[in-house]
Amino acid sequence: MADRYLSFTGTAPGRFLTRRLGLPRPAPLRRRSPERPDLDGGLLHLTAGKSDLDLAPVLARTGPAPDDATGRPAAVVLDASGIRDVEGLAEVHAALHPVVRSVAASGRIVVLGAPLDPADHHQAAAQQALEGFTRSLGKETGRGITVNLVRLTDAPAAESTLRFLLSPGSAYVSGQVIGVGAHETAAPYDVDRPLSGRTALVTGAARGIGEAVAETLARDGAKVVVLDVPGAEADARRVAERLGGTALPLDITAADAGARIAEALPDGLDVLVHNAGITRDRRLVNMPAELWSPVLEVNLASVLRTTDALLAAGTLRRGGRIVATASIAGIAGNAGQTNYGASKAGVTGLVRALAPHALDGHGVTVNAVAPGFIETKMTAAVPLFIREAGRRMNSLAQGGLPIDVAETTAWLAHPASGAVNGQVVRVCGQSLLGA
Ligand SMILES: NC(=O)c1ccc[n+]([C@@H]2O[C@H](COP(=O)([O-])OP(=O)(O)OC[C@H]3O[C@@H](n4cnc5c(N)ncnc54)[C@H](O)[C@@H]3O)[C@@H](O)[C@H]2O)c1
Repeated sequence: MADRYLSFTGTAPGRFLTRRLGLPRPAPLRRRSPERPDLDGGLLHLTAGKSDLDLAPVLARTGPAPDDATGRPAAVVLDASGIRDVEGLAEVHAALHPVVRSVAASGRIVVLGAPLDPADHHQAAAQQALEGFTRSLGKETGRGITVNLVRLTDAPAAESTLRFLLSPGSAYVSGQVIGVGAHETAAPYDVDRPLSGRTALVTGAARGIGEAVAETLARDGAKVVVLDVPGAEADARRVAERLGGTALPLDITAADAGARIAEALPDGLDVLVHNAGITRDRRLVNMPAELWSPVLEVNLASVLRTTDALLAAGTLRRGGRIVATASIAGIAGNAGQTNYGASKAGVTGLVRALAPHALDGHGVTVNAVAPGFIETKMTAAVPLFIREAGRRMNSLAQGGLPIDVAETTAWLAHPASGAVNGQVVRVCGQSLLGA
């Protein structure tokens, strides 16, 4: 279902009317394409406070070239990791106040912070302040500009994260706080096809977000396995054929689903994307158990079961990546979705609890993407007014596309993302729900 309002506001009468009436004015987002894989413009690297991070070499590899000529940077990185007190926050204001207006449309602002120091409440206060600052700035910038905060201790560990946040691939990721741990040595990889030689399995990949995820992981070099219910086998085969992968018709709720996947992948698996999901909406007072159980089964129980089975069978190789699909409904809650909200909040619980163990025992990372309003068949079925509200109630004033979730998944699946673990990253254009 096309977003006609977004198309209309791109026309001259549309611009005139929305300005006069004070209506939301979504900017068309610049996404990655083979012809234009990078941002259009340079990088401005600023520092607030005294930083110990050695960022320059990492930014030279990941970001756009330094912005010295145009005065309209496409990306601004503000290193505020060294700020330890409230006085230091004045430097954040001093650094960004003069440049915010000049950031190019669809530009990126990335604030770098440090983990909160539990032994120093002044440092913790100042560093937590960066979160409120980042989220507030994200709501102000407009023009498709995103603003995110990365908490890190080690610059090389954040290489894949900075590459993602400073690229057109992160067009619909804004207002996020991402923690990056200590550096994990990544096996060598090809920059253009980082998943080359790796196998990725995506559940629910016959259509929608899953199809886009499979396509994007294949673009990055992975051999993809397209899993979907037997009823969607024809579509799954069509997707697999197009991507040079294989189809696996399987209901993920089957008790032996993990064993069947392990059997289909005798050489092991590197990337496991739990994307399959369903909704059965009804207010709790009207919801029979028949509508409650399948949602919990598909969205949560099967994610737990297959994860456990594939870890136990050793199918998921060292350095493996698990990306589960949560939702803003699991964060903010949503009327009519007690079952769905419960299942998706459960996914975030699983991710946060499993992440430290998976890394210790198996060198595996476990993260979640939490989509907001994404234009798919699932959301096309939503009644018109709720759909319009879903589209506009975020800082970018539009719905996301499946590719936005897919690009985020590809970053988490990246071989150099070993220090990104236990994170729940919203792909929601900074939705006002649960913000
Ligand atoms: N579209 C959105 O706005 C949005 C927002 C938040 C979260 N999500 C989540 O993103 C994921 C993908 O959503 P979508 O919009 O692409 O949905 P979709 O309905 O278009 O696609 C879901 C796919 O999962 C498959 N599937 C369902 N049950 C399955 C099972 N038991 N075994 C195997 N495959 C199964 C379906 O056949 C379908 O191909 C879901 O987990 C959904 O909850 C979507």
